[in-house]
Parts: sequence; C-alpha cells; structure tokens
Amino acid sequence: MSDTEAGNGRRSSLHGFWSSKLAFILAVTGSAVGLGNIWKFPYIAGENGGGAFVLIYLLCVFGVGLPIMMSETMLGRRGRRNPVASMALLGEEEGGGSWWAVIGLSGVIAGFLILSFYSVIAGWVLAYVVKSISGVFVAADAASVKTLFGSLAGDWRETAIWHTVFMIITVVVVARGVERGLEQAVTLMVPALVAILLILLGFSAATGEFEMGVRFMFEPDWSKVSGATVLAAMGQAFFTLSVGMGCVMAYGAYLPQETSIPATATAVVCADTLVAILSGLVIFPIVFANGIDPMAGPGLIFEALPLSFGNMPGGVFFGTLFFLLVGFAALTSAISLMEPAVAWCVERFGATRARASTVIGVIIWALGFLSVFSFNLLSDFKFLNGTFMDNFDYVTSNIMLPLGGLLITIFCGWVMSENSVTDELNIGQSTLYRSWRFLTRFVAPVAVVLVFLNAVGWLDWLLAGAATA
Ligand code: PHE
Repeated sequence: MSDTEAGNGRRSSLHGFWSSKLAFILAVTGSAVGLGNIWKFPYIAGENGGGAFVLIYLLCVFGVGLPIMMSETMLGRRGRRNPVASMALLGEEEGGGSWWAVIGLSGVIAGFLILSFYSVIAGWVLAYVVKSISGVFVAADAASVKTLFGSLAGDWRETAIWHTVFMIITVVVVARGVERGLEQAVTLMVPALVAILLILLGFSAATGEFEMGVRFMFEPDWSKVSGATVLAAMGQAFFTLSVGMGCVMAYGAYLPQETSIPATATAVVCADTLVAILSGLVIFPIVFANGIDPMAGPGLIFEALPLSFGNMPGGVFFGTLFFLLVGFAALTSAISLMEPAVAWCVERFGATRARASTVIGVIIWALGFLSVFSFNLLSDFKFLNGTFMDNFDYVTSNIMLPLGGLLITIFCGWVMSENSVTDELNIGQSTLYRSWRFLTRFVAPVAVVLVFLNAVGWLDWLLAGAATA
C-alpha cells in the first residue's frame, strides 16, 4: 500500500491504500468466499426445501446484496476510516447526525458473534484435513460418515481444541498484518476451489442422484415457501456476501480513488455465487444417493463430502486439498470479520494492531465456547431458534446484517447528497448509476422491510387489511 493522498482530498487516518484494484477485489473475494458458500449454503438450502429458496436467494444476492456492496464500498472510501468513525463523520457531513455510527457499531458486534461460531465450524474443517490424510474416509459409507462427524461434534474437547487452533491462526494473521500475502493467495485459492468442486461435480454426476440433486436445487416448489424461508434466503445473501456489517466498508476505506466500484463489486458477487451454486450441485446428488437427510443441518457437508472423497480415485489427495482450501477460505473470511473491530480499536483507543487483535480474539474465542457446547453439553438447551449457535447465526444473518444493510441503503439513497454520491461513485449519470440508485433508494430497502414484515406474519395481515378496506 502506498501512502498517497486520497483522491477526494481526505487523508486517510489509516494505513494507506491497497496497492491496486486487484488487491481490493482479492480481499473482498477472500472475505465473501468462505464457509458461507461451502458449508452454510447447502445446509440452509436443504433445510428450506431447495429450489424456491435458491431462486429467492439469487434474487436477493443481485437485487439487494450487490447494490449494498457498492454502497458499502463507497461509504468506506468516502469516510476513509474504520466503519464506526466513517459513519459518524459522513453522518455529520451529510447532515444526518453522527448517530449513523450505529451501523459501524452493530457491525463490530455482529463480527464478534459471527466469528465466535464461524471459528468452531472452521475448526471442524481443520479436523477434517487431518482425518482425510489419515485415510478414515476411504471406502466410507453413509453410516460411517455419520459416526465420524457425530464423534467430532459430540466431543466438546476435540471441537474446542480445533476452535482454539483456528482462532490462534486468525489472531496471528491479523496481529501481524500479513493479510496482503493471504490476499494474493486468493488468486490461487478460489480457482483451485472451483477446480476441485468441478472434479467433485463430475463424481456426483457419475455416481450420485444427479438429476434429483439438480431438480432439488432449481425446481421451485412454492408451496414450501413461508415467511421464514424468504428471510433465510435474504439472510444467507447478506452473510455470503459479507455485507451489512461494515466489513466491506472497512476494506473500502483502503481503496484508491480511481477504482471502479461497480465493476469490482460485480466481480466479487459473481465469484461468490459461482462457488455457492457449485457446492450445492456437488452436495445434493450425494445426499440423495446415500439417503442422507437434506435437513441434516450444520453437519451436512461433513457427512456428504467424505462419501465422495472416500470412494473416488485419488480421494485422499483431493479430500485433504479440499478441506485445506476450505480452511483457507474460512481464514480469509475470519480476518475480515475482525477487521471492523480491530480498525476501530486501533483508531479510537490508539491500541497497536497486535494488542487490539489479541484482546478481541480472546473475547471471541471465549464466546465461541457457547457454540462448541451447542453440539454436545448444551445440545438440548434450546431457546428462541434453537441452540446458542443457532441463535447467534439467526440473529446475525437474519436480523443484524439485513438491518445494517437497510440503514446503509437509506443513508446512500436518501441522506447523502446526490453530489457526494456521484462524486464518489464516479460513473456520471450513466444507466449503471441510475440502476444502482433505483435499487438503492427503492428496491433494496423496500425488499428488506417486506421480508421482515413477512417473516413475522404482518405482511399477510396488512394485505388482508388493504383488501377489505
Ligand atoms: N461471507 C463469509 C462467508 O461466506 C462470512 C462473512 C460474513 C464474512 C460476514 C464477513 C462478514 O463465509
């Protein structure tokens, strides 16, 4: 990163700029592509009946997520600070008041909550790297993979150890500020991940119930759609794109002025969607061929994938490489989950990066035990939406991120002056600009509000009221 002055005349209070547009794309892609695509997308799609969920998810990704990613990047670049300070500053500047900093603060909190369970799942991925090398997947069948996963998740000590290992790696990377090297690695990781997924896809097509899998993913059965399904699809769109919590804003703060925001955001969203769809296409044929329950929940990929690796030629090699790559993808997401909080502590309290990330990491690690126990000691302790982990996931994906996104669209679409927006986006009054503006002012905020109302059953009630009035 070079320490040049920001084009908008604002000197960054932070650590300079991405050396290139590519570095930014890589960082945001690294943030977006992660467990959300490979682990969460298939299991949430499975729990929500497939087809219709997937279509609503795609609509949310492109109609809501993409414009918000552009908005978030733009706010970050204009504020040039951590998300809390950027929003306070922009709120003042645009006449909305510094309370807009709540977007940043809620993002910091969401980052803590998400990483606390994310790290537990990422820990399992690391455990599976070792299991794969040791050859336990070889000739696996449906019963053995279930036992294998059950004994890992059911053992809180083993799960806790791997969670700890993953958090230590994350903190070390963030503390030493060596993200740059990792970003470069994304150029290898994402194509390699896509390549292995394609190999697995070939295997699924040859040995799995491929047609059933494809049908399950793309044939919408609208009768299965409820308010909760739509909310889950929208929440997944926010989660997978890392938007609505300041992550992209934090990264946008280091973006050079001349970089095209629409082009970079579109590239990231397409790459992210490709990985998610491929994962689904790999998992479901195997799930159906082996009698695994598509509603198996968080264990879904840990049961389905070893069945492929265990029964294909070169499975030990590909399995090990695959779980390594997924672990790596999780790491580049995890560092982005810490970034808003770390940048905030560094700028606000003058902490060093090392100290800030260590303290934050320890808090998140401790919080993570509630998710570790969600699969064993506390697996029967359910409230609201289920276990602790279920609730952390639900509250962040389905409530905090969409609410953050809603506020971001309101700020960019209604509070910020059009001058500031055009100045920062720098795409003139083009069709592209007008589409973004329309999506940001109307489509995205209205969609989020409708999905919320629908989820609590108020939409039907309001519509019925309107019909009788
Ligand atoms: N997008 C990441 C994934 O799909 C998770 C994430 C969510 C990262 C929110 C940052 C912010 O795995």
